[in-house]
Amino acid sequence: MADGQGRGRAARAVRGVLRLAAAGARLLARPRAGARPGPDWARADDPDRDRRDSTALVLRAVDAGPGMRILDRGAGAGYLSLKLAALVGPGGQVVATDTDRRLVRDLAALARARGLDQIVARRVRADELGVAPGWADAILMVDVGLRRTRSPARALARLGALRRGLRPGGRVVIFQHRTRPHHLDLDALTGLAAAAGLAVLSCQAYRAPPSPEEPLGRPGYLAVLGRGPA
Ligand SMILES: C[S@@+](CC[C@H](N)C(=O)[O-])C[C@H]1O[C@@H](n2cnc3c(N)ncnc32)[C@H](O)[C@@H]1O
Repeated sequence: MADGQGRGRAARAVRGVLRLAAAGARLLARPRAGARPGPDWARADDPDRDRRDSTALVLRAVDAGPGMRILDRGAGAGYLSLKLAALVGPGGQVVATDTDRRLVRDLAALARARGLDQIVARRVRADELGVAPGWADAILMVDVGLRRTRSPARALARLGALRRGLRPGGRVVIFQHRTRPHHLDLDALTGLAAAAGLAVLSCQAYRAPPSPEEPLGRPGYLAVLGRGPA
């Protein structure tokens, strides 16, 4: 009996240590805004990314101008939020949302340091949009993979939430550098979007330029959706 209790305590202690080690590893793996190395979306400023065709492609699709209100959903370190802030100017607003508390805190600090009052960094839960219905002239999602889900109702609900965030005439721009097997592909996305009351204004496949890590690139896409009738 005493032996059994001892073994139970030892097993609990081992599990505790393993949990702590896993939490530590997760913490170390999380990117910091502006830090190198790490994925490019973990850098708020990135001259390499400035030169990539995808940056110009996405910004052209958003078509941001002075005074506009833009939601950058899943903003990461805020690379695109900063570009959008320059385009909307002091009279506009960029709400940069992310589920990662630390990225949001770092971006808020960066925006403050640069005097960019038009950026509001906001932490959200995964299903939360972070702006009021009808608020956005445009919603941008770059590499915030819309997931293939077993429940079409769930995917529809997510797209419906995007639609509700738009003002009449507003647009949603969804860009994936590359799609992974768990992402909605372009056909599935456009089909569901139509069912959610989002009109497909344009869509195109995108192939990332070859890199040493992915010599052939992997196809992604750019979809521009408008707020259609409910
Ligand atoms: C690959 S990064 C892309 C960041 C940014 N869009 C860019 O292109 O630099 C994806 C980001 O989306 C965030 N994210 C994932 N799901 C989200 C959700 N449902 N709502 C808000 N942010 C989300 C992640 O925390 C991460 O920072």
